[in-house]
This record gives sequence, structure tokens and C-alpha cells, in this order.
Amino acid sequence: MKEKIIVGISGASGVILGKELMLQIKKYSDVEVHLVYTKAAEKTYMQEQKESITSLHDLADKVYDNENISASIASGTYKTKGMIILPCSMKSVAGIACGYSDTLLLRAADVVIKEHRKLVLGVRECPFSSIHLENMYKLSQMGVVILPTVMSFYQQPDGLASCVRHIAGKCLDQFDISSDDMNRWEG
Ligand SMILES: Cc1cc2nc3c(=O)[nH]c(=O)nc-3n(C[C@H](O)[C@H](O)[C@H](O)COP(=O)(O)O)c2cc1C
Repeated sequence: MKEKIIVGISGASGVILGKELMLQIKKYSDVEVHLVYTKAAEKTYMQEQKESITSLHDLADKVYDNENISASIASGTYKTKGMIILPCSMKSVAGIACGYSDTLLLRAADVVIKEHRKLVLGVRECPFSSIHLENMYKLSQMGVVILPTVMSFYQQPDGLASCVRHIAGKCLDQFDISSDDMNRWEG
């Protein structure tokens, strides 16, 4: 049976990162993409991408309704490699940090933590408040990977698309999926 990664998209800015992530998983691995996105992500996607988030459905092996709290990924018995939330809002960070699992995205993250699987949060806010930082610190101490969606310049990006590819590739490194769409530092 194929391995599975849950991709969560929340309503933070930078929803194109979630799309790029799914494209790279398909390109560089044999892993199934299980997609869940929030109501706010639907709005942010429309605002930023000028199309419906449903355009992402073709990139996923399975798409879940965020209200369907009884879906497979709500249970630890359903085996996955883990979950990447990209982009991850501060509201979702807060929900996860408190174990407040009232949606499928939050419950799936809760399950990933309790089963000691890998959870990567591509967090996005600017600036961070003490509340945000405290929540991220708490999660980091539990082994959750806090991966800020910040640009880096050492790889000589030739534009925004290059930065987007790099951030998605950094997330995949956490799952040992090696992307050639990012420029690695060779010294
Ligand atoms: C266009 C737009 C951009 C947003 N960007 C961010 C952001 O970068 N970070 C963040 O934490 N919230 C951001 N928000 C606010 C979240 O969407 C809001 O807090 C929402 O409740 C998050 O819910 P969710 O985590 O369930 O998706 C943005 C909202 C909109 C409409």
C-alpha cells in the first residue's frame, strides 16, 4: 500500500505554497496526497489565486470535508507518514497547541501529534505576537516542526516562484522527499 501524507491548507496568506507542495509531492515521490482545507483557506485562495480552491482537487488522491470529523484521518488507526499544513494560520496554530480539535484539519494534526508522527507547520504571520510565539514554542517542544514561510536569498532566487519552490522543498525535506526544484547550498 502507498504511503500517505496529509496536506492541510489553512486561511493564512500564501496558499500558492500549498499548491506547489502538492505538485512537488506528485513529482518527486510515490506518496499519496490527502488534502484537507479550511473555510478561511477557500476565501484566501480565491483572494490570492483568483480561482476556487477546488482547482487543487485534481492534485490530491483524496480530498476531505473539513467538517467531516469522522473521516479516516481523524483516527490514529489510519496510518499516514504525517501532515504538512502550508500555509498555517495563527488560528490553526492556536487550535493545535491547545488540542482544540473542532474541525478535521485540527483533529488530523492532533492525531499526528498523539501518534508521534511528523507534523510540519508552514506558519505565516507578520509580525508574530507573544501569543503566536508562545503557541509555536509549545508545539516545537513536542517535536512539531515550525517552518516559517520566509524567503531566503542565498540560493539566488530569480523571483517569487523560485522562493515558493524553495519553501515547498524545505517542507518535503522533513519527509525525506528530495526535491530538485530547490537550489541546495553546495558551499
Ligand atoms: C486574505 C487573507 C489573508 C490572511 N492572512 C493570514 C496570515 O498570513 N496569517 C494568519 O494567521 N491569518 C491570516 N488571515 C486570517 C485567517 O484567515 C483567520 O484567522 C482564519 O480564522 C483562519 O482560520 P483557519 O486556521 O481555520 O484557516 C488571513 C485572512 C485573509 C482573508
